[in-house]
Amino acid sequence: MNISEAISKRKSIRKFTDKNLSKEEITKILNAARLAPSGKNSQNWHFIVFTEQNKKEELAEIIKSKHNTIYKEMYKIDEKKAERFKKFLKHFTLFYLNSPVLILVMATDYFPTGYYEYKLFDPNNPILDDLVYKRNPAMQNIGACIENMILQSIELGFGTCWLTSANYAAKEIEEYLSFSEIFDDKNYFMSAMLAIGEAKEPNNSPNKKKLEEIVTWA
Ligand SMILES: Cc1cc2nc3c(=O)[nH]c(=O)nc-3n(C[C@H](O)[C@H](O)[C@H](O)COP(=O)(O)O)c2cc1C
Repeated sequence: MNISEAISKRKSIRKFTDKNLSKEEITKILNAARLAPSGKNSQNWHFIVFTEQNKKEELAEIIKSKHNTIYKEMYKIDEKKAERFKKFLKHFTLFYLNSPVLILVMATDYFPTGYYEYKLFDPNNPILDDLVYKRNPAMQNIGACIENMILQSIELGFGTCWLTSANYAAKEIEEYLSFSEIFDDKNYFMSAMLAIGEAKEPNNSPNKKKLEEIVTWA
């Protein structure tokens, strides 16, 4: 499969068959992440691979619990919005329980060129926040490594779904990782999850904007 095929074949997959990935296949996918570009070659990522169902369930319990806390508070203010939020959980987050592999993508901050330089002579300049949080090169790095994993998965015959919808429970998940001695490095935070498995049924992506809408030729 060439890259153009992989790019056009890629669709978010939320229903998976029982087929497992071999350790070699998972390693190949992780290696694709390792080779991704990153600002200043910072490689500000770490990957936690979940394949055991009981551990994935433990994560789900944490997410459900936090979700329920938010839901209850929302319900007091806006019942309709709270109910919509409730439905979201199963379809857009907990479906990962049916994927054989779930990768938690941990990230650290990365401060781009210009940051330390400005900090030296103009530490209160709002450009510091602008550089780090608005342009957010740290997350650009993370995006690159996730997309590499996605494309590698497709070549191996697997589908994926990139998830950030559980990030409201990120703090609790980080505590769980540390408590259960899976991963404990306070410099890292959870940035996203990637569910991987064989697609159960072909999925249609939602419409994409036309090129004319998103491109300006200068
Ligand atoms: C940063 C990011 C976060 C996403 N988070 C979720 C998510 O939490 N749950 C989910 O089901 N899909 C998630 N998606 C998948 C998008 O919904 C999907 O990419 C989009 O609807 C376009 O569909 P396609 O991927 O099939 O082209 C996410 C995608 C990205 C890039």
